[in-house]
Amino acid sequence: MATEIDIREWQRGDLAKIQRDWLEFCRQATRSDIRLKPDCEIAMANWLAYRFKESEAFGFIAELDRNAVGFLIGRVGDWESAPPVVEPRKLGIIDAVYVNEEFRRRGIGIRLVERALQAMRDRNAVAAETIYDSWSADSAEIWRRVGFAPWMVHAYRML
Ligand SMILES: CC(C)(COP(=O)(O)OP(=O)(O)OC[C@H]1O[C@@H](n2cnc3c(N)ncnc32)[C@H](O)[C@@H]1OP(=O)(O)O)[C@@H](O)C(=O)NCCC(=O)NCCS
Repeated sequence: MATEIDIREWQRGDLAKIQRDWLEFCRQATRSDIRLKPDCEIAMANWLAYRFKESEAFGFIAELDRNAVGFLIGRVGDWESAPPVVEPRKLGIIDAVYVNEEFRRRGIGIRLVERALQAMRDRNAVAAETIYDSWSADSAEIWRRVGFAPWMVHAYRML
C-alpha cells in the first residue's frame, strides 16, 4: 500500500481536478431547497481561477505517491464586524477541504488542515474559522480533532 503523503502548494494545473471533485461533492450535498446552477461548471472554474490569483488565498494539494488525492482552499484577511464596533482582526478561513473517497481515514484531511493552519500563522492571522455540515459525521469530527469548536452557530429552517 502507498504510504508517502506529501502536501504542496496548489498550481494552476490542479484547478481542473479540484473543480471536478468539489462539484461532485456539491452535487451530493444538494437538498430540496439547494440546487446547482445549470452553468455550475463554468461558475466553479471562474471562481477557482479568481481565487488562484488572489494574494490572500492559498491552496494545498495532498499527494500520495505523486498523485493528487485531496485539496484544501483557504484565505487570510482582515475581518470587520457589522456593525463595525469590533477592532478589525486578521482571520484565516478554510473554504474547502476534500479527500478522494478511496483515500479517506488515512490522516490526509488532518495533514491538509494542519498545513493550512500553519499558513495562517505565517500570515499573522489570530484565529481560524470554517463552515461545515454539522449533520455530517466525517466533517464534524475532523474539525473537532484539529481543535475547532462551534461558536456562533448558523441556524437554518425550511419555510
Ligand atoms: C472530511 C474529509 C476531508 C476528511 O478527510 P480524511 O482524509 O478522511 O480525514 P482524516 O483521515 O485526516 O481523518 C481525521 C479524523 O476525522 C474523523 N473522521 C474522518 N472521517 C470520518 C468519518 N467518516 N466518520 C467519523 N469520523 C471521521 C476521525 O476522527 C479521523 O481520525 P481517525 O481516522 O484516526 O479516527 C473527507 O471525509 C471528505 O473529503 N469529505 C467530503 C468533503 C467534506 O465534507 N469536507 C469538509 C467540509 S468543507
